[in-house]
Order: sequence, then structure tokens, then C-alpha cells
Amino acid sequence: MDQIIIQGGNSVRGVISVVGAKNACLALMPATLLCAEPLTLTNVPRLSDIDTMMALLQTLGVDVDRSDDGRVVTLSSASITNHVAHYDIVRKMRASILVLGPMLARDGQAVVSLPGGCAIGARPVNLHLFALKEMGAELELKDGYVRATASRGLTAGRIEFPSVSVGATENALMAATLARGTTVLGNVAREPEIVDLAVCLRKMGAQISGEGTGEIIVEGVDALSGAEHTVIPDRIELGTYMLAPAVAGGDVEFVGGRRNLLEAFCGKLEESGIDVEETARGLRVSQSGCRPKAVHVVTEPFPGFPTDLQAQMMAMLSTAEGVSILEERIFENRFMHAPELLRMGARIDIQGGSARVTGVKRLKGAPVMATDLRASVSLILAGLAANGETVVNRVYHVDRGYEQVVTKLKGIGADVERIQNS
Ligand code: UD1
Repeated sequence: MDQIIIQGGNSVRGVISVVGAKNACLALMPATLLCAEPLTLTNVPRLSDIDTMMALLQTLGVDVDRSDDGRVVTLSSASITNHVAHYDIVRKMRASILVLGPMLARDGQAVVSLPGGCAIGARPVNLHLFALKEMGAELELKDGYVRATASRGLTAGRIEFPSVSVGATENALMAATLARGTTVLGNVAREPEIVDLAVCLRKMGAQISGEGTGEIIVEGVDALSGAEHTVIPDRIELGTYMLAPAVAGGDVEFVGGRRNLLEAFCGKLEESGIDVEETARGLRVSQSGCRPKAVHVVTEPFPGFPTDLQAQMMAMLSTAEGVSILEERIFENRFMHAPELLRMGARIDIQGGSARVTGVKRLKGAPVMATDLRASVSLILAGLAANGETVVNRVYHVDRGYEQVVTKLKGIGADVERIQNS
């Protein structure tokens, strides 16, 4: 298996271009199932999670065409030829559950494997099922699959989510576009990826308002049509690389970066003594070389501090001056990077959903193991700030969500290599 090897100590300088958002794309792609005409997405990132979603859609009868080096993807779903999303693909990626709402809304039937547990917690799909049931779907759970039917189509109404879920909001939003009547979705997620999905669905002819607030209103229409849509920048990729100059020192400009995608995160960086500046092309982060200061971080749904940047922030705070607290409020088991950071000399004490990080002057390079997507990249960041060599194993996790991580980091002066082991 491949490894990433980092020789720590270089400061970083230069420019990084931000790619399209993986999580936006994973919701936009299943939207093709809502209509027979082609949906063209541009600014698509080249990632294994995107390949997995494409492969899943192909099993359902979607025709996929990739051009411009994979950045443009046209999906055509003239008809859904198979309504079963099999375990073999769904188990690879939780976001597969997002085919459920669109298939059900268009054809009144869908069978989708339950995604099962994953490294960062139980991650159930009860909220997805709750919303579809409220829209009149009949659901049967059997042999690890959910079998959903709505023979006379989905019906509208008021749906108040008991707690906020990004994926459940996306599934319900897509399903509601073809439901009869007006659906009001309350206590929904407000993430920029949801706004992007609503914008795309509107281009396809959906009647949606309120996205980006806690309540989305959808007037059902009879059919949607084809559209072309450019995916928003990946705020998590952006935030991850913004931490490179923060941990290693230096000055990097992020082309395509937008502060409004990451306000809470940028605020915490500034509180920690890192300079964040808006430029004509994006954002610029600089750190003069002094140690960052400890901060208190609480992960929350958007517009709060994103859970998907918690592991990377912990890597930075491992060398901050003082004691930081990181509270994880979204996922119950998302500190799996902490034992690996300990191997590099970090001082971290975990109590339930809270981590107390006592900053050390310098981390030490060590062999470490990536446990999930964001954990993997936090170890790479830690390696940039460490003395000596860090070897990150199980880097296939990185490939799920970071395009050309080694090339990007080398481009700003980091000493990073990928070793291919057969
Ligand atoms: C999405 C993102 C993921 C991010 C997460 C939170 C994608 C493809 N993934 O995941 O990167 O970390 O949002 O910002 O966009 N929950 C339930 N029942 C459900 C659904 C969720 O209890 O039916 C719980 C989860 O276990 C979790 C919380 O709700 O504790 C939030 O999860 P959710 O917002 O649904 O995350 P995802 O959509 O899976």
C-alpha cells in the first residue's frame, strides 16, 4: 500500500488553487436521477469518492461522460433501468444513500443498502427515512436494505427534522422537488453544499426558496429538465491547506478561496494569531514563524466550525502555545487521529467528546496510520510541523477527498513524497 513521507521543517510559500467541493458534488450527481435530460457538472474534483458515486449511478442506468480531464461530467438518466443500490458499492461510501430520495421521487420505487457503521461513529440514516416517510413513502427494512415505495408519488407537507443532518436535508430536498404540493422542510442543514444543490435544482426547473436558512420551501413540479452547473469551491480542502502555513510558517494564497464558506474557521485561525486576508483571487494566509496560540474550538453545523476540519485543527494546536480545547459535537468517535498525533509527541487528553491539547514546541516525525479521510490529512499537516521524517500509512483515505495532495504541498515548498508499494 502507498505511503506518504514527509520531511518536516520547511516553511511553505506560494499559491494553491482550490478544487470543486467533493461533498457538493456527491449531492449534485444523484440529482440526475430526477430527470431524463442530461445534467452537466463542471469544476468536478478528481477523487475516488466521485468515482464511487459515478459507478453507483452507472449501475442504476445513468450514462456518464467525463471530459476536460475529468473536470466536466455529464450524467444522463433517460430512464432508471435498475432501482437497487447494492451493498458492494454503498458500503464504500455513505453518501450513496443520496440516490434514495431522487429514485423514489421519480419512479416511486428504490431499494438501497443501508450504509452500515463507519470509522467516525454509528452514522445512522434514520433522519433520511423519517423525511421520506413523512412524504408518504412506504418503507421496509429487510436484509440490510431499505425498500421504499410511493406508488402514487410523494406528497408534500411540513417536515420538522428532530436534529440537523446534511445528507437527510439533501435527500429530502431532492425528493420534494417532484412531490405533489408545497413541502416545508424545517430545522434543515444550512451548509454551502446544500445551497449549491438548491441552486442546481432550480436550474433544472425546481421551485425552491429558503436554502441557507433553517427552513426550505419547495413547490413540487411535474418534471425537471437538464441543466449545467459549476460546483462551488471545496471549503474543507481550502481550510485544510490554510493550515499548512499555520503549522509550518510561511505565506500561501488560495485561488478560489472564499471567506464566507469558512467564517468560523477563519475566526479561529485569527484568534490563534494567524493572518487571514482576502485577495482579488481568493484568500491569503500567513504566519511569521511564531507559535500559534491555543484556542477553544467547538464543532457545529454550518455556520459553526466544521467537524471536517477538527482533525486538521488538532494537528495545528498540537504545537500551539498553551492549552486548547476541541469539542466534537457532530460525531461521537472522531478523535482517532489523536493516538497517532501522540506518537508524534503531541500531548492530548480525550474525555468523551472533548480533547484537551497541550501544545508542545515541536512534534517529532514518526510512522503513523491514517484512519479516515480527515484524520489522514491531519497527520500530513502534523508531519510538516515535525522534526524529522513522518511516514503516513493507509493513504487511500486521502485519495477519497484530496486531489493530488503531494503535488499541491510540494508546489508550496513542502518536502513530501508518495511511495508506491505494490
Ligand atoms: C456530511 C458530510 C460529512 C460531514 C457531515 C457533517 C457529505 C458527503 N458528507 O455527512 O463530510 O462530516 O455532513 O458536517 O456531505 N445522523 C443521524 N441520523 C441520520 C443522519 C445523521 O443521527 O439519519 C447524525 C450523524 O450520526 C451525525 C449528525 O447526524 O452525528 C450529522 O450527520 P450528517 O449531517 O447527516 O452528516 P452526513 O450527511 O453523513
